[in-house]
Amino acid sequence: MSTALLAQRMRRVRPSPTAEISDKVRALTVAGHSVINLGEGELDFPTPAHIAQAGIVAINAGETKYTAVPGSARLKQAIIDKFSRENGLNFTAGEVIAGAGAKQLIFNALMATVNPGDEVIIAAPYWVSYPDMVALAEGETRVVQCHEGDGWKLQPEALEAAITERTRWVLLNSPSNPTGAVYSETEMKALTDVLLRHEQVLILADDIYEHTRYGKAFCTPAQVEPRLLHRTLTVNGLSKAFSMTGWRIGYAGGPKWLVDALQVLQSQSTSNPSSISQAAAIVALDGGTGFIDDWIERLACRRDRVLASIERIVGLSCQLPEGAFYLFVNCQGMVGKQTADGRVIADDFDFASYLLDVAKVGTVHGSAFGTPGYLRIAYAVDDRVLDEACQRIETACAQLR
Ligand SMILES: Cc1ncc(COP(=O)(O)O)c(C=O)c1O
Repeated sequence: MSTALLAQRMRRVRPSPTAEISDKVRALTVAGHSVINLGEGELDFPTPAHIAQAGIVAINAGETKYTAVPGSARLKQAIIDKFSRENGLNFTAGEVIAGAGAKQLIFNALMATVNPGDEVIIAAPYWVSYPDMVALAEGETRVVQCHEGDGWKLQPEALEAAITERTRWVLLNSPSNPTGAVYSETEMKALTDVLLRHEQVLILADDIYEHTRYGKAFCTPAQVEPRLLHRTLTVNGLSKAFSMTGWRIGYAGGPKWLVDALQVLQSQSTSNPSSISQAAAIVALDGGTGFIDDWIERLACRRDRVLASIERIVGLSCQLPEGAFYLFVNCQGMVGKQTADGRVIADDFDFASYLLDVAKVGTVHGSAFGTPGYLRIAYAVDDRVLDEACQRIETACAQLR
């Protein structure tokens, strides 16, 4: 009875697979198992103290009321300054907006622009939420499969071939979740050259992992090709750069007509992002990213340790990622193997389930990112816990025949 009361649009959307893995991990933990979650896209570092303190100061100063829907004037200025200083993008106050995470801004951008049947081009492996957001907006996802041999990067010919007169958006994500691929300026230019030829196409640059890179330079489409600025929405946020996932602050810069539409949707749904988080976000954006070098060093060590462990396991392999904090592991060599109790590993989902059941380590199967035969391991967890997880994975894999 109850599900019969759900709206039809709920048939188009699945719960986030990464949130589902986290729920399973929590349920196993409650049942008394010692489970390690390498499925969550979240840094384990605390939010830097000076940023957290700004939130506390805001509470004590009574900054606990509604603000302007797209964020306070001070936060907007901090966003404008960030885009100008770090990305060479110049926006006015009417061209930027803050929301409750990059996720909300991407969702609202699609809701504001996609008509039934409009196509949205997404390069696979993709962030799990993109296709479901497109589906909720009644659009059609057009997946372009990228390949390990190309460093998981979208190739300009493949992009060109996917564009039709119904294409409304192309979503680009560098550094990428789940592969960690970072586009060089030349690679990005090859894509923006294609996009220049298609006036009707909007570009969404999801730059949320901008600061999580291992030495490689960052670029964003509107910076590489300023002639695309008038049809590009550049989305970023504080979740990954400042370890502020729970504060829920994302922001975007783009053409005024689009930012106005995002503001209308936000005004009729969630209103302003939390006033307390906004105060912290101003300090985060204005305060520089000096602490990030230390984070990157620690993350690079963790990445290398997990990679070394993967290399010891027959049947698994992985490329060295250039950014983000994930390994996208090829597990095709595990398919067809048998577990100690005689079950056959039929695919990447079975393999991830096996690791959860036997090793008690949560990971996410590649199919969730549109690319079967792989497994995503998030390594932004404490060193000791990570070593234990690697040990468990190695032991569980050794038991497969
Ligand atoms: C590629 C990508 N985009 C956007 C987001 C959303 O980030 P936020 O916490 O700002 O909503 C995530 C979060 O995991 C992500 O991986």
